Amino acid sequence: MLVPLVLLLTTSVSAIKQEFGNYIEEYYNDYDDEYLDEIENRFFVLHAKKRFHEQLNKRDYDDGDDYFESNMTFNSRLAFFIDIEIGSNNDTVSVLVDTGSSDFWVAGYGICESEFYYENSTYDCYDYGYFDADNSSTFTSNNTELLLEYGDTTVAIGYFGQDDINISNITVNDVNFGIANFTNATSGIIGIGYETTESTYFFNTTGSYKYINFPEKLVEDGIINKASYSLYLDEYDNAEILFGAVDHEKYIGKLYQYPIVTMNSSDINEPITRIAITLNTISLSNDTEELIIGDGYIPAVLDSGTTIASFPESISEVLANLLNLTYDYDLDSYYAENCSEIEDIYFNFYFQGIQYTSPVVSYFADFFYENGDYLGCVSQISSSDDDFIILGDSFLRDMYMVIDLEDNMAALAYSNFTNSSISDIEVIIDEIPSGVNPSNNKTFGPDNFLFTYYDSEPVTKSYVPNLATASV
Ligand SMILES: *[C@@H]1O[C@H](CO)[C@@H](O)[C@H](O)[C@H]1NC(C)=O
Ligand SMILES: *[C@@H]1O[C@H](CO)[C@@H](O)[C@H](O)[C@H]1NC(C)=O
Ligand SMILES: *[C@@H]1O[C@H](CO)[C@@H](O)[C@H](O)[C@H]1NC(C)=O
Ligand SMILES: *[C@@H]1O[C@H](CO)[C@@H](O)[C@H](O)[C@H]1NC(C)=O
Ligand SMILES: *[C@@H]1O[C@H](CO)[C@@H](O)[C@H](O)[C@H]1NC(C)=O
Ligand SMILES: *[C@@H]1O[C@H](CO)[C@@H](O)[C@H](O)[C@H]1NC(C)=O
Ligand SMILES: *[C@@H]1O[C@H](CO)[C@@H](O)[C@H](O)[C@H]1NC(C)=O
Ligand SMILES: *[C@@H]1O[C@H](CO)[C@@H](O)[C@H](O)[C@H]1NC(C)=O
Ligand SMILES: *[C@@H]1O[C@H](CO)[C@@H](O)[C@H](O)[C@H]1NC(C)=O
Ligand SMILES: *[C@@H]1O[C@H](CO)[C@@H](O)[C@H](O)[C@H]1NC(C)=O
Ligand SMILES: *[C@@H]1O[C@H](CO)[C@@H](O)[C@H](O)[C@H]1NC(C)=O
Ligand SMILES: *[C@@H]1O[C@H](CO)[C@@H](O)[C@H](O)[C@H]1NC(C)=O
Repeated sequence: MLVPLVLLLTTSVSAIKQEFGNYIEEYYNDYDDEYLDEIENRFFVLHAKKRFHEQLNKRDYDDGDDYFESNMTFNSRLAFFIDIEIGSNNDTVSVLVDTGSSDFWVAGYGICESEFYYENSTYDCYDYGYFDADNSSTFTSNNTELLLEYGDTTVAIGYFGQDDINISNITVNDVNFGIANFTNATSGIIGIGYETTESTYFFNTTGSYKYINFPEKLVEDGIINKASYSLYLDEYDNAEILFGAVDHEKYIGKLYQYPIVTMNSSDINEPITRIAITLNTISLSNDTEELIIGDGYIPAVLDSGTTIASFPESISEVLANLLNLTYDYDLDSYYAENCSEIEDIYFNFYFQGIQYTSPVVSYFADFFYENGDYLGCVSQISSSDDDFIILGDSFLRDMYMVIDLEDNMAALAYSNFTNSSISDIEVIIDEIPSGVNPSNNKTFGPDNFLFTYYDSEPVTKSYVPNLATASV
């Protein structure tokens, strides 16, 4: 409809939609208020607050005969939000921190007025706040349309403008952001990806242009040195995003760094659009064996705005075979008899030969029917037709991730989960501090682009890569 092109941005919040979409949700906030430490000049820490959604997913479906209806109950899942005050009245909004998109937008006052409140909007003004542009004396409108569409089909429509924002005691003047007067997304979003995926550039076929987005603005104003940040998605009480620096206390083992790659192997001149690194191998393992799902070269997008993950259809199918999952037509998903069956099984993701493990159970959730009957432990992994995978919070919550948007590098290490407030912060001036290059420097591109999915029969591969691991 309104959006002419839906390209790479499309999957960015698809899994969130599974989580939050149209569903009734409630959350409790047993966390500290978001606050900010300005430890020195040139970097700052934002403590993200976590919102646990105990939501019900109501699926209506008509199989031609009967009417089938079920409520879906997930375990508590999470997404990461920060609070931002906008404009001369310090209107407070809570926005989802998204490495998978590049626009910052919030709901406008109009959305929240019953007169204008679209009947199908799922935006919750009470939970996430809104910005009243008309009553902010510092606001200037660009009179440019905001037209955003995400992969889950949710949209945000409105206009762009600039205003001052406060993040705790830091003020950033004249930040570009969108004010939505229609959305069916659940919350506003602060996209901290590349300017090449800004909606004004990506979606606008005539007269497209880039504008200075939030990470670049922090550099322009001298708040940080380099468009870079570190994400620590601790589930319990310490989640934070550190702009412009690395905190060496927050990870264990080596901080391996990987070149960010283009999404298309054949076009060497294609600009980098998404935070994606080279994945060589995906496997499943337990104490006794490792089963290869696929190997070769495929981009893996590291997306904090996706709650679970998205895999190409072939991976989902191999996975279902290896784990002996059952397909449920009503849900259009695979499930295990119960979650304890997959408790001791891990995904292994090898990036340029370096192994990271992630519990398979983090990608599944218990499913109960409305009447309380239990179906099983249902896969929350989206299947796609894409030639890339998306790893969301299910993977990232165990990792410390450093992104350097200027030199196109992403570093990953296992998180050091600690309640300690000790920090060992090093500003990013040039390279990622303590970033280690893996010995395998072959990245996804014109020479390395094939990825082989293994056949559906569960077979233990005699070849198990003997590779360095990122663990201590
Ligand atoms: C900003 O906040 C930090 C941490 O709360 C505090 O140490 C610092 O003094 C504050 N700065 C100002 C100017 O208030
Ligand atoms: C908005 O917040 C800033 C910084 O915290 C403060 O200086 C200012 O007085 C606040 N304005 C209003 C209207 O509350
Ligand atoms: C809301 O959804 C219903 C059913 O899909 C549709 O008929 C109606 O036009 C929608 N309303 C708006 C304002 O989009
Ligand atoms: C959101 O709204 C757009 C535009 O009306 C519509 O095409 C899309 O299907 C809606 N998505 C959801 C999940 O409601
Ligand atoms: C929403 O914003 C657009 C762009 O400024 C405008 O054309 C439209 O009339 C607005 N709609 C409402 C309901 O305010
Ligand atoms: C697209 O570009 C034209 C010309 O620069 C501009 O008028 C229009 O507002 C832009 N639309 C979006 C969605 O940025
Ligand atoms: C808004 O206008 C300002 C001033 O012309 C410009 O610098 C900025 O890039 C524009 N922002 C957007 C999102 O169009
Ligand atoms: C992990 O955190 C603890 C507590 O702050 C600290 O003592 C330890 O040195 C950290 N580990 C690493 C490898 O930084
Ligand atoms: C896990 O280990 C057992 C042997 O203890 C083996 O029979 C089983 O197939 C393994 N499963 C997976 C998925 O690795
Ligand atoms: C696979 O699952 C089916 C149905 O749940 C079960 O009957 C069968 O024994 C399982 N096979 C293996 C190898 O676990
Ligand atoms: C489904 O969940 C909703 C929200 O809790 C509840 O109101 C409704 O009664 C449930 N439906 C059934 C059939 O249990
Ligand atoms: C990759 O490693 C090989 C062998 O160490 C080296 O010869 C080559 O220059 C490296 N390539 C790049 C792009 O760093």
